[in-house]
Amino acid sequence: MALVHETLILLLLTFSTWCFSTSISTNSSTTTSLAKLPNATTAKPKRLVTKLIHQRSVHHPHYNQSETAKERIELDIQHSIARVTYLHARIEGTMAANDHRTQLSPSSSGRTIMANISVGQPPTPQLVVMDTASEIFWIMCNPCSNCDQHLGQLFDPSKSSTYTQLCRTPCGFRGCNCHPLDRSPFSITYADNSSASGTLAYETLVFETSDEGSIQIPNIEFGCGRDIVYNNDPGYNGILGLNNAPMSLASQIGHKFSYCIGSLADKSSNYNQLILGEGADLEGYPTHFQALRGMYYITMEGISIGERRLDIAPATFEIKENGAGGVIIDTGSTLTYLPDDVQNLLYKEVRNILGGSFRKVIIETYPWLYCHLGVVSRDLVGFPVVTFHFAQGADLALDTGSFFEQLTDSVFCMAIGPVSATGLDNRSSVIGLLAQQSYNVGYDLVNQIVYFQRIDCQLLSG
Ligand SMILES: *[C@@H]1O[C@H](CO)[C@@H](O)[C@H](O)[C@H]1NC(C)=O
Ligand SMILES: *[C@@H]1O[C@H](CO)[C@@H](O)[C@H](O)[C@H]1NC(C)=O
Ligand SMILES: *[C@@H]1O[C@H](CO)[C@@H](O)[C@H](O)[C@H]1NC(C)=O
Ligand SMILES: *[C@@H]1O[C@H](CO)[C@@H](O)[C@H](O)[C@H]1NC(C)=O
Ligand SMILES: *[C@@H]1O[C@H](CO)[C@@H](O)[C@H](O)[C@H]1NC(C)=O
Ligand SMILES: *[C@@H]1O[C@H](CO)[C@@H](O)[C@H](O)[C@H]1NC(C)=O
Repeated sequence: MALVHETLILLLLTFSTWCFSTSISTNSSTTTSLAKLPNATTAKPKRLVTKLIHQRSVHHPHYNQSETAKERIELDIQHSIARVTYLHARIEGTMAANDHRTQLSPSSSGRTIMANISVGQPPTPQLVVMDTASEIFWIMCNPCSNCDQHLGQLFDPSKSSTYTQLCRTPCGFRGCNCHPLDRSPFSITYADNSSASGTLAYETLVFETSDEGSIQIPNIEFGCGRDIVYNNDPGYNGILGLNNAPMSLASQIGHKFSYCIGSLADKSSNYNQLILGEGADLEGYPTHFQALRGMYYITMEGISIGERRLDIAPATFEIKENGAGGVIIDTGSTLTYLPDDVQNLLYKEVRNILGGSFRKVIIETYPWLYCHLGVVSRDLVGFPVVTFHFAQGADLALDTGSFFEQLTDSVFCMAIGPVSATGLDNRSSVIGLLAQQSYNVGYDLVNQIVYFQRIDCQLLSG
């Protein structure tokens, strides 16, 4: 069978190398106050639900109508590489003794998914990046240097009746003002050298309920960012950290959360959502996670295409003794990255199924990306589901919309890259957002379980 190899030069992006100098320092000596869910009169807690919007959605205030699918995916690829490289740098950082990067927080650039969280009283909605590998919730605060491109209303602590400064010297009573020199600073620097710094404070978060009421969650510790540095339009007002660190919103609100991601290709979808705390949807197939270096590692056991299980040695996905390897589930990367030999094996199988009828396309800038001429929705009807298998029998099933990306009108690519594309050889795999489409993913931080439930997000909303 002669496969015609046709080389199309589609992308001529200059891809700069990413350097990392990243640190977070908070100087809070006071104990973190755990926000309590309000005492509901009924036993069933009300759900703290917030819509999720992706950066290329029509619902995003900076939606750019003239941006093409190709441009969008180029950004996905660039961003995903930067993200995975960044996660690897964090892994490296913890391995070297006394490396300041042990306290890294993740990159925030590129296409990501954002929550709309209302802060303060009166509530001011803020679009913040949902990041399962980040440990702090921060937003831009007035007065602010370099926040000109913030979205919507800039949060102004002086206009909120519920804002309370966090002081280094504990206050005798709530609401007391601390001396500017006594304020607790925070500062965070990301992979692309963007950064945010300011002071730590407490605020009330406000969630709307389906009956047009609202629920207030008081005393949430967060970072009020007053000095922001970034290169490009960030397209967000802050970061919503959801890892298992004490200051993450997941830890502060009930130690549970779940998110439902429908189709990222659907620019007008309005059903993607995040639920925080007790009302989170923890349903479907459970698998244990291990939180290491602020990231959620899950135990991957294999991959199938259709009924056929690929021949992958079980140890391939294990976390190695030196801390390399393992599989991270992440909301910050769009694409998925698997060990090179696994990605190759997967592609070999895909090519067998596609046969000679699809011409191969080489993308000059990303030669590792496996692409063919064709249209996913038209030509790949009946292509078998690709299933990632995890411990305890949990599965993540990728249909063609999750496994492939339509790069241009006539070229589609496998949305899975080799870990080596990031320039590192540490073989930590990352499961990105595209692979999590059509799923509700629930996290129980107390019992360390991730739940995968295949569902139409529309059924969960409302
Ligand atoms: C943190 O606070 C302590 C006590 O106020 C101070 O000595 C120390 O220099 C501060 N560290 C940073 C990084 O600001
Ligand atoms: C909340 O419920 C707990 C336990 O039922 C009770 O002890 C406490 O007084 C209640 N607090 C408020 C503010 O109602
Ligand atoms: C929107 O996208 C087009 C095409 O990529 C680009 O030329 C233009 O600068 C973008 N506009 C904004 C406001 O970013
Ligand atoms: C965020 O939520 C507020 C309050 O519900 C709403 O007015 C605003 O339109 C939302 N923003 C976006 C971008 O959806
Ligand atoms: C970030 O800053 C460092 C130190 O100034 C520099 O070496 C590095 O190239 C910068 N990285 C990026 C991506 O701009
Ligand atoms: C990870 O990969 C980098 C670059 O290939 C290498 O320098 C480093 O030693 C590796 N670390 C581990 C723990 O394998």
